[in-house]
Amino acid sequence: MRTSIFATVSCLAATVFGSCMTDAAAHEVAVHFQELISAYTNASAEAYLTANFHDTSDSVTTLIDGGCPGTPLPLGQTTFSSRDAFIAGQGGQPNITFTILNVWHNCDSVFLRWSSNDPNPDVPTNMFAGKGLTPPEQVTGIIILETSEATVTADTPYQWLINTVYSEFNSGAWLVDLGVFQPNCSATASSKVKRDARPRIL
Ligand SMILES: *[C@@H]1O[C@H](CO)[C@@H](O)[C@H](O)[C@H]1NC(C)=O
Ligand SMILES: *[C@@H]1O[C@H](CO)[C@@H](O)[C@H](O)[C@H]1NC(C)=O
Ligand SMILES: *[C@@H]1O[C@H](CO)[C@@H](O)[C@H](O)[C@H]1NC(C)=O
Repeated sequence: MRTSIFATVSCLAATVFGSCMTDAAAHEVAVHFQELISAYTNASAEAYLTANFHDTSDSVTTLIDGGCPGTPLPLGQTTFSSRDAFIAGQGGQPNITFTILNVWHNCDSVFLRWSSNDPNPDVPTNMFAGKGLTPPEQVTGIIILETSEATVTADTPYQWLINTVYSEFNSGAWLVDLGVFQPNCSATASSKVKRDARPRIL
């Protein structure tokens, strides 16, 4: 209820100051970002992102750092601070297939949940042998896409360009899938004992 009041108020504000994206436009923005991760091309990055694009994700930073904070990227800061930085970083990555689970939006931002059963299908699974673990572990995440409204022309056909991304996901499972973290999940393994000694917050 609170969310819909907020959306209504911000859509009224946008009616005064600019337009408010439709459900179809929000879905298109979500699919544009999905395409940049699952079927990346430079042309789509240039078509879907503003030049001043920023992407902030400690989950991505943790993957880039291989779980070692600060090396090479610091946690808690922007991961890609321009479209060119995203192109340089994402352009060299394998495509990652994922399913969009939900899409919500207000006038100029899109919120989505996603899940991938196997983000790294090329990684060999024999490294998990004897560890009581059947890979891959699924990865689920949440993304906030802030957009800028653009003037539509023949050369720039999209009204809503992604300007800012805030994205977090289960990088723990992803690092297991990559073999960077290699837990031993056998019932009697010493790492299992450590897992059971975790802080009792849940
Ligand atoms: C990702 O998918 C796009 C579109 O299908 C393709 O052009 C590109 O070569 C793929 N990238 C990699 C690293 O496989
Ligand atoms: C994509 O852009 C990067 C950075 O400008 C460049 O190095 C790369 O060659 C381009 N890829 C293609 C397929 O044109
Ligand atoms: C995992 O732990 C079990 C129980 O301690 C042990 O028998 C097994 O060798 C371990 N596996 C690996 C790959 O270290």
